[in-house]
Amino acid sequence: MDPRRVLEFYLLAGADESIGETPRNRYAEEGGERRSDRDSAPERAEHARPGSAPSPAHPTPRPIAARAPVPPGGGDETETETDAPVRTAVGLAAASSTLDELHRALESFEDCALKQTATNLVFGDGGPDARVVLIGEAPGADEDRQGVPFVGQSGQLLNRMLASIGLERTDVFISNTVFWRPPGNRNPTTAEIAACLPFVERIVELVDPELLIALGGAAAKSLLGIVESVGQLRRRWLSYSTPRLARPVPTKVTYHPAYLLRSPGQKRAAWHDMIEIKRKLAEL
Ligand code: URA
Repeated sequence: MDPRRVLEFYLLAGADESIGETPRNRYAEEGGERRSDRDSAPERAEHARPGSAPSPAHPTPRPIAARAPVPPGGGDETETETDAPVRTAVGLAAASSTLDELHRALESFEDCALKQTATNLVFGDGGPDARVVLIGEAPGADEDRQGVPFVGQSGQLLNRMLASIGLERTDVFISNTVFWRPPGNRNPTTAEIAACLPFVERIVELVDPELLIALGGAAAKSLLGIVESVGQLRRRWLSYSTPRLARPVPTKVTYHPAYLLRSPGQKRAAWHDMIEIKRKLAEL
């Protein structure tokens, strides 16, 4: 078969990264089967993020960093496979007292599998004194190449959305639920999101913004633990808090720019959200 056709097939199937030069049969490796269990377990636990209660009555669940620490050495038979990475992340994030320190801590963090396939860490973009923090879902190919969030097509739209209410990129801090591009732009898994969440929370604490914006359902679910459609969530102001934030941060969920590019009919609603955000900022 023409190798070009094979490559085209791989690309269509979303396999656009070369990870190794020789094939590796992970099923034949010791623990291989367990690994596939591990990969699917977080999916089954999709709506059961530790410490979160996906209920509209509790829009601000306990943040992951506030969970009771697990004693060193384990002893906890119910410990899940995601707990160790999360514990490491919580420790690194808590020990960082500036964004630069947090960035460096993240560079040293090895417990998110996405790091192995990504070209660059995509930490965030913006100033430490930003009035607004925006959290998207995950870096794409352009972001992976440049190491900067929202620089591709959805980034261009996001820039226009911000400009429509008088905000420049330098007025905001932008990051994502995960800091490395998922291969083939697949959705990040629950385990990957959980491992990155303590760093995302710490970004919000360190910037201490007046307002938080979750771009899309994945960001809303990760930050707030709420599983509801963006169409529902965007209709009300929510509030985000962590033990280290001096006060809860008013939070708006709105459509992800990539979704708006696919569904331009929703741009009108997103425009209304931007007006509401502008109004809120004027009040604060
Ligand atoms: N989409 C995201 O969610 N984040 C980015 O950084 C780019 C595109």
